[in-house]
Amino acid sequence: NWKLHPSSEAEAIKLARASDAKNVVICPPFPYLPTVRKTLRHAALGAQDVFWEEQGPYTGEVSPAILKNFGARYAIIGHSERRAWLHETDSMISEKVRTALMAGLRVVLCVGESKEVRRKGLAAAQRFIAAQLKQDLKYLNSKSYALSSKLVVAYEPIWAIGTGRPDKPEEAAAMARFIKKLLTARYALPAPKVLYGGSVTSANARRIFSQGEIDGALVGGASL
Ligand code: PGA
Repeated sequence: NWKLHPSSEAEAIKLARASDAKNVVICPPFPYLPTVRKTLRHAALGAQDVFWEEQGPYTGEVSPAILKNFGARYAIIGHSERRAWLHETDSMISEKVRTALMAGLRVVLCVGESKEVRRKGLAAAQRFIAAQLKQDLKYLNSKSYALSSKLVVAYEPIWAIGTGRPDKPEEAAAMARFIKKLLTARYALPAPKVLYGGSVTSANARRIFSQGEIDGALVGGASL
């Protein structure tokens, strides 16, 4: 997740080449999608957001169909920065998840609790995440298996994003286990995938994954 970086196409090409490996998804700002697509040999392409309508009077928005036409296979939805700065609500996010899955995009749905919630303990954070997932996935049901198999949840505690202080590996793993159980119980997903995001770097990734519960990382700053 490159977020709002870099500011030139030449840098985008350099970055794309540096991370071009299997099992990697690169999510650049929208205008770089065609360039990054042409550059990649191994990694997949994703977008940092997507709108919930396919077309219409929605200035500034980008639809799932446009993303697919430009080679994106994934879309991040509900990133905490969009929730904070663009006031995206769970209701908007649920619409985005529905439209993107129906259009055949793979969705990386971001959820995460604030510092205030986490201070009350892991159980309180789990209650928060359960409620967030319920709202963000309100259009999924156990019959939409074909759709939900294209869903990946990224657990990103807000206080760990961009701070250089990731969650404790055991607690991130406990949360991943909790989310997987919940996805299986609520939506009959047999093998849900959960990523961890928040200050993952090449120096700490091994430790974060050491618990075996986390299936991958959503990397922001370190992807640059
Ligand atoms: P970070 O961001 O790796 O810079 O903490 C993670 C993210 O994209 O949310």
